[in-house]
Amino acid sequence: MTTSATEGPVTKGGQERRIIVMIGAPGAGKGTQAERLSGRLGLPHVSTGKLFRSAVRNENEIGAQVRAYVEAGSLVPDEVAVKVVDDRLHEVDAGAGAILDGFPRTRNQAVALDEMLARADDRVCAALYVEVATEDLVARLTGRRVCTIDDQHVYHIVTVPPRQDGICDIEGAPLRQREDDQPETLRKRLERQLAPMYEVIDHYADSGVLFPVRGDQPADKVTEALLQALAASERIG
Ligand code: AP5
Repeated sequence: MTTSATEGPVTKGGQERRIIVMIGAPGAGKGTQAERLSGRLGLPHVSTGKLFRSAVRNENEIGAQVRAYVEAGSLVPDEVAVKVVDDRLHEVDAGAGAILDGFPRTRNQAVALDEMLARADDRVCAALYVEVATEDLVARLTGRRVCTIDDQHVYHIVTVPPRQDGICDIEGAPLRQREDDQPETLRKRLERQLAPMYEVIDHYADSGVLFPVRGDQPADKVTEALLQALAASERIG
């Protein structure tokens, strides 16, 4: 167990640690919903996409390992994604659990997560699958705008507009398009990332913790459906 000042125990001190996984195609609304659930449940929102983008921006070792993959719309190697999440789950704020957004993305990552959690006698309590038809994803991603200060503040020019055009409601900073939302990268992400996602869905269906939720409804309704799914997962678990 870790004892440094910046890291905390993986164990939960008497209370069940809540590890919630968000699954969905690129643009399905995982990030939007993970941010809302994080506020409602008091658990950190852990987005591997965001961790990789900051690593690339900071030009650190992880950034050097993942840059080419993220820019090409491909998945980064499993071992890098697993290491990043393992480290993140040892941070103090994840002691009571976390909402994992965009991880696991392959069956190997799902197995590695199970093993990582089992070492601390934990498990995934719910895998929430935000389901959106593939043909709707492109419109969501081309209209997406993110905050220049924190790209977890996400908007859409039509469906989820900011109060003031082009400005983040939370930071007051300008919005921008994500680099990987350019049409060519977008096409590759959808082409390369859907098949492994279905394997992850099968993995959690087999474990009995998969909760599909319709993502093609207004964001507030999706949040309510996810909260109901979590309540159901607690009754079952
Ligand atoms: P990542 O950042 O995880 O990107 P992604 O999975 O492609 O997901 P997105 O962030 O694009 O979409 P989202 O589902 O969060 O949707 P959002 O809420 O923004 O990963 C980026 C890259 O990192 C990957 O391509 C890969 O290279 C790498 N990577 C990350 N994790 C990895 C891993 N584990 N292994 C390997 N590689 C990894 O919503 C989209 C838009 O829709 C927004 O504009 C939003 O405002 C709007 N919207 C949301 N909800 C609704 C609604 N209900 N109705 C209408 N519009 C809505």
